[in-house]
Amino acid sequence: MSFGIPYKGSKNIYATHICESLPSGKRLVDLFAGGCAITDCAIRKFANKWETFLINDIAHEPLDLYAKCLCGENPVPYDWVSREDFKSKDWATRLVWSFGNDVSTYLYGREIEPIKHDIEAWIVDGVIFNNSTILHDIQLPNLVSMKERYSWWRGHKRLLSNLQINVNTQRLLSLERLERLERLERLERLEFSYLSYEQYEYRDGDVVYCDIPYKGTHCKQYKDTGFNHESFWKWAKSRPFDVFVSERIVPDDAEIILKKDVANRANTKGIDGFKTECLVRV
Ligand SMILES: C[S@@+](CC[C@H](N)C(=O)[O-])C[C@H]1O[C@@H](n2cnc3c(N)ncnc32)[C@H](O)[C@@H]1O
Repeated sequence: MSFGIPYKGSKNIYATHICESLPSGKRLVDLFAGGCAITDCAIRKFANKWETFLINDIAHEPLDLYAKCLCGENPVPYDWVSREDFKSKDWATRLVWSFGNDVSTYLYGREIEPIKHDIEAWIVDGVIFNNSTILHDIQLPNLVSMKERYSWWRGHKRLLSNLQINVNTQRLLSLERLERLERLERLERLEFSYLSYEQYEYRDGDVVYCDIPYKGTHCKQYKDTGFNHESFWKWAKSRPFDVFVSERIVPDDAEIILKKDVANRANTKGIDGFKTECLVRV
């Protein structure tokens, strides 16, 4: 099961462990919510652990997309977006069409773009294009729905990779993920805000979780907030309530409550060497 929208730095893979480790309370405050994986997991799998949920991030876009998906209004169409058109598209479309969902780098390299175009044209519309010769080597079945063609494609991994055809259709996976975000009943349990963390006002019974941008990584998607880690830790330590923080580099005096080894995909160049992620209480 995946949680939240596709988002760089998403806690999707181990959202369940984080939700298990956080204490119960009246309201779960996801102060750096981004793609909302933590709240999404909390409300779907731990519905009785918290009564309400505050989803906050300084960036509007991911929160707005998440909210739309929950109401069944995924705003990203299946239409093909070319490298040329990419830059002029709205945020949600660029999210789905970007490499590693970084919103700024077009998903496919120049050489692979015509091949991906043809593959997707067949999967989405059942049309066989001639931009590349790739589909000529395969006996494509006559299937009526996109769902059937997509599952045929995914079910023929071995055959296709023997023909040197990359089966991965990342954009369709991202779209699928947005579609799978089932509508949520009882949306009144969710509140949204768009504040910088220092502006948050504590309420009795709040459990405050902070998934801050990793120190030392370069997430183009949210670098313009100029996030200052020292100021953040100073703020967290001076709160009169517990603050739960996910980070890789944590202060020596923080209480580690969860440690997970994960492959770091926080930049487009691949794994950058950090692998242990901690959830700490300060
Ligand atoms: C690591 S991401 C959060 C990922 C999220 N937990 C998820 O599962 O998708 C960090 C988030 O912090 C947000 N952010 C950066 N500076 C902020 C600030 N001063 N106050 C609140 N949010 C901030 C960024 O917009 C970004 O979405």
